[in-house]
Amino acid sequence: MNPPAAGSNVYVSRRVPETVEHELRASFDLEIHDSLTPPSRERLLDKIGGRDGVVTMLTDRVDEEFLDAAGSDLRVVANYAVGYNNIDVASATQRGVLVTNTPDVLRDATAELTVAMILSAARRIDEGDRLVRRREPWIWAPTFMLGRDLRDATLGIVGLGSIGTRVAELASAFGLHVIHSSRSRFDPRYERVSLGRLLTVSDVISLHCPLTPDTHHLIGVQELRLLKPQAILVNTGRGPLVDEVALAEALAENRIGAAALDVYEHEPHVTERLLDLENVLLVPHLGSATEATRLAMGALCVSALRQVLVDRAVPANAVNPEAVAL
Ligand code: GLV
Ligand code: GLV
Repeated sequence: MNPPAAGSNVYVSRRVPETVEHELRASFDLEIHDSLTPPSRERLLDKIGGRDGVVTMLTDRVDEEFLDAAGSDLRVVANYAVGYNNIDVASATQRGVLVTNTPDVLRDATAELTVAMILSAARRIDEGDRLVRRREPWIWAPTFMLGRDLRDATLGIVGLGSIGTRVAELASAFGLHVIHSSRSRFDPRYERVSLGRLLTVSDVISLHCPLTPDTHHLIGVQELRLLKPQAILVNTGRGPLVDEVALAEALAENRIGAAALDVYEHEPHVTERLLDLENVLLVPHLGSATEATRLAMGALCVSALRQVLVDRAVPANAVNPEAVAL
């Protein structure tokens, strides 16, 4: 383990697993916002002043204001997430601040949750659970609460990166036929089609692309019109990939089969209309929420901070290695 680096001063914007905190304390002069909820913006801006490194969450906006508040000592922002749409990377780069994320380690956890959500939406598991809990009378019947088979259904993956590929592999075991629409990815196992075609022919559509200005509202009013009447839309990526109001309307009018959401357009706010619908599964952003995965994500943050602040090296998980000319 590296010795504490005198003067390396790190702020962490949320409670992290104990082992991760311990590791951070061993290397840095540390302050943690020890809570499940974020610091207020004002507090965050105040607390990051003069830090060498900050560990941020996907709910912390790292923009010009943040970078100004941190000041010129800041060398690294370690985002405790694989997605980094909360960070203005160009501004960080300009100021020589490295940004790191947590790729790969949450692939399996997120893919597994995605498959669980596909299964739940197809077989109405959450809907059935709600019915039982409401103490409604029910009894087995040939036509009671029928769902959809997955074998021989088509799964359209939007974004065939590490998580999307793992979902494709797991789904294949259920006999789903997998197609994808990634222009930049090639995988001989899965047919590539246009997004329009994918939306038209898929029985299940799962979103795994990063949120960028290009993918904002990738699924909006027009795209929802292309979906099959029984289609299931699953989003474990980022909320703003989907126009949530348009989705709620399509679901309320039964124009599509169902949706399963782990992420929301204005997280943690959920469009009110969705809360009253039976054909949508609502999960509170649990994609990477397993103990081992959150530890692995934390370990990547710790190692990134150590590499930058102690070893003066550029970590492999820097998303903007060009930020420093060593
Ligand atoms: C503390 O250090 C905080 O932001 O709560
Ligand atoms: C979670 O959503 C992440 O990007 O890690």
